[in-house]
Amino acid sequence: MAVMARHCPDIRFIVADIDAEKIRAWDSGKPPIYEPGLTEVLAESLHRNLFFTTDIGPAIDQADMIFVSVNTPTKTFGEGAGYAADLQYWERTARTVRAHARGPKIVIEKSTVPVRTAEAMEYILNQGGQPWRFEVLSNPEFLAEGTAIRDLEMPDRVLIGGADTPSGQAAVAELVEIYARWVPRDRILTMHVWSSELSKLAANAFLAQRISSINAISELCEVSGARVQEVARAVGMDSRIGPKFLEAGVGFGGSCFRKDILNLAYLCRYYGLHVAADYWEAIVRFNEHQQARFVRNIVHRMFNTVVGKRIALFGFAFKADTGDIRESPAIRVARCLVEERARVVVTDPEALDNARRELVDVADRVEFCSDPYEAARGADAIAILTAWRIYRELDYRAIFRDMVKPAFLFDGRNLLDPREMYEIGFNVFPVGSPPLVHG
Ligand SMILES: NC(=O)c1ccc[n+]([C@@H]2O[C@H](COP(=O)([O-])OP(=O)(O)OC[C@H]3O[C@@H](n4cnc5c(N)ncnc54)[C@H](O)[C@@H]3O)[C@@H](O)[C@H]2O)c1
Repeated sequence: MAVMARHCPDIRFIVADIDAEKIRAWDSGKPPIYEPGLTEVLAESLHRNLFFTTDIGPAIDQADMIFVSVNTPTKTFGEGAGYAADLQYWERTARTVRAHARGPKIVIEKSTVPVRTAEAMEYILNQGGQPWRFEVLSNPEFLAEGTAIRDLEMPDRVLIGGADTPSGQAAVAELVEIYARWVPRDRILTMHVWSSELSKLAANAFLAQRISSINAISELCEVSGARVQEVARAVGMDSRIGPKFLEAGVGFGGSCFRKDILNLAYLCRYYGLHVAADYWEAIVRFNEHQQARFVRNIVHRMFNTVVGKRIALFGFAFKADTGDIRESPAIRVARCLVEERARVVVTDPEALDNARRELVDVADRVEFCSDPYEAARGADAIAILTAWRIYRELDYRAIFRDMVKPAFLFDGRNLLDPREMYEIGFNVFPVGSPPLVHG
């Protein structure tokens, strides 16, 4: 909304959330999340045409368009538990909109939702006996955390799905006009609402599939002596495939991939498409395997015991340039190492508070440290879990000097040059290429 408000100074944007603490932070100009460039973009429109409130009723009533971007986590109970999307927040929002609107509104799905959610939403909205109709559009969000502002400023595409009715098409046209203020028209795709809903799930599944595919190749590389980065380069130079999302590592994280793919698999199963469901689910299963084998490798390479050993985790965010740790591989790595009775030290430039909250139940066995040099001091091993640029630029000679010998380096993001690290003295374990171990 901050990016929209910047491009549409004549439109009033009101962001309403039930979480008062978050709203207070946004309203003070200090977003509660780390995202490069966000504070500056927010400052441009804050209190000019961008407002934050917890007063949801009036915000609904004053609006012509309502973007619903509440969370849609994986269901943890009942039918579809562990797979299907939990739509309780969604449905609650539909009922809240219906209760507070005193005129027609265009309701826009921003959250990632299962195909045909708009239909259910429209049904609930239009059952209030009111003399007008609510129009529901699908406008899934494709921003990636860490590059959110750039992605919103210059999106590869904007999808707008609506019903094939005159009122549905009129609502689509209204939303197109807003995006067209800064997005080239040929990048604004209009389509049927169900296609739009499914496209978002499909896009995330394709992205995650590339990661699991290259990670599966990385496992084969480790036993065969091939090098995954060389293979990825060769594969990615095929113009039909392309070079992006072909970096092997400790596995994908983030709040979306896992939940969206399980959701896609559930949809397939719901329609009786079990082979398709198994196909998509395998992407998630392989990701879990990749994370598990990364930790197993740490224990195995350190002579099958890490009891009492200090292991520094470089990075806790699920990827660089964000403080978000949801589904981060680092969670699993930290917990497994604690279980193995290692002394775990976590460092991260932006995610340390979130890491503290996540590991609160094992806080007596984990240290948190903002300085990576201090984290590594006296450590037996470093595991790089997030590809923060600063971890590329550290003085690894100094770090090595202060570590217990032999010093181990498990590079879960292939961030460092393994040969260079080996020459400093580390035993180096990259993902997907042969380890470099001093005899
Ligand atoms: N995070 C991403 O990078 C990303 C990218 C694309 C799409 N999405 C999708 O966007 C949706 C939201 O994701 P997120 O990461 O922002 O989740 P989030 O959990 O960070 O934010 C959801 C917000 O909704 C609020 N909320 C819940 N119920 C509410 C209600 N009834 N009324 C008002 N506010 C309510 C919560 O307090 C919370 O602040 C999800 O469907 C997700 O799949 C996220």
